[in-house]
Amino acid sequence: MGCKIIGCGKALPERVVTNDELAGLVDTSDEWIVTRTGIRERRVAVGETATDLGATAARRALGTEAGGWREAEGAVDPTSIDLVVCMTISGDTVVPSQAAMIKAALGLPNAVAFDVNAACAGCVYGMEVVTQMLEMSAIDQRAAAAEGRPPRSNPMRRALVVGAERLTRLVDWTDRATCVLFGDGAGAVVLDWREDEPGVLSSFLKNTDDPEGVLTVANAFDMTTFPFGGAIEAAGEHSVAAATLNDGTAAALDAPEACPEGYEGALNPYINMQGQAVFKFASNAMAEAALAVLDRAGMGIDEVKCIVPHQANERIIKYAAKKLGIGLDRFQVSLASVGNTSASSVLMALADAYQGGRIEPGDAVMLVGFGGGLTAGALLYRA
Ligand code: UT7
Repeated sequence: MGCKIIGCGKALPERVVTNDELAGLVDTSDEWIVTRTGIRERRVAVGETATDLGATAARRALGTEAGGWREAEGAVDPTSIDLVVCMTISGDTVVPSQAAMIKAALGLPNAVAFDVNAACAGCVYGMEVVTQMLEMSAIDQRAAAAEGRPPRSNPMRRALVVGAERLTRLVDWTDRATCVLFGDGAGAVVLDWREDEPGVLSSFLKNTDDPEGVLTVANAFDMTTFPFGGAIEAAGEHSVAAATLNDGTAAALDAPEACPEGYEGALNPYINMQGQAVFKFASNAMAEAALAVLDRAGMGIDEVKCIVPHQANERIIKYAAKKLGIGLDRFQVSLASVGNTSASSVLMALADAYQGGRIEPGDAVMLVGFGGGLTAGALLYRA
């Protein structure tokens, strides 16, 4: 018994931003970006929200809109969805959750919804949370039936898992080290509980502390407007400035001098990354997570049909491939046209893999993620 992916889809904003276009904005070149990352262009949401992107990807996964992959003909009944989980670091609102916004946009009357934030490893963490919830629910329902009592928790048989990012709102467009990397987009899968399918074979999650802050995005509203004096009141000035920036309007921040200790991050509410340090972490973390799930499942890498990694940098994927002793052709690499879309990236690439015919029923598939936190993880399942 286990979870089966019965549909998947992705959605991209209209606006394409090429490397050459960015070379007109910061001191960079198409040649540098392609050589160092493999990225040729990305999409930027100027007219779409994260909810728009997430809901479109979800409709394609559910089959209520064309453009996705479905296990069977016909659309999924919206009343059959029990759970919506969204992985994001750039949702439209903090409250309601991004998942609740997508659920409302889709009209899923029986679903409960919440978000998962595990940065760029979000997809693997989210899939782990949802598959575990469905499994626990199946165990509870079986025990309840055997004991002649009602289930102890919400019965959950079918879930919608979405990665939705409007990440470019967190990008400092004056920082060439980061602005060339990221893009917007969403990916979604529908997971169905099946008594006769193996589903997830093994999983592995890991969090490594990041005391140096090699990958951070400060929360602009860390700066409270608490009105009763002291250091926190001084911080309020920064709050206004940061909020203006987040609105997409400002360039340089005219920071007041007296920034209270612990609030410095709010002066820069953008993606801050020490590229080389993250590169080193990511390359090792990917191979470690991949080997861990193989070990837990008692399988060899040659038994895995397709590996779908987080799409941060083609060089990181090549490095991991080398460590695992396999060719790059075993990986789904989709980043050239979309860049790094954080928590959306693995599900977007997975949609490409299903739609491209790379994954067939019975194939072993591995998802691998890594990112801020520092988070890493992998999930091995049978399609
Ligand atoms: O999704 C979350 C996880 N994130 C990642 O996995 C990202 C991991 N890191 C990376 O992918 C890579 O470190 C980067 C693509 C971010 C950078 O590549 P790199 O080969 O590590 O470059 P670097 O940071 O060592 O910089 C090399 C040079 C520097 O110039 P100097 O000091 O050698 O003169 C940079 O200033 O390249 C310069 N540089 C650029 N030049 C042109 C940095 N960004 C750019 C740019 N265009 N956009």
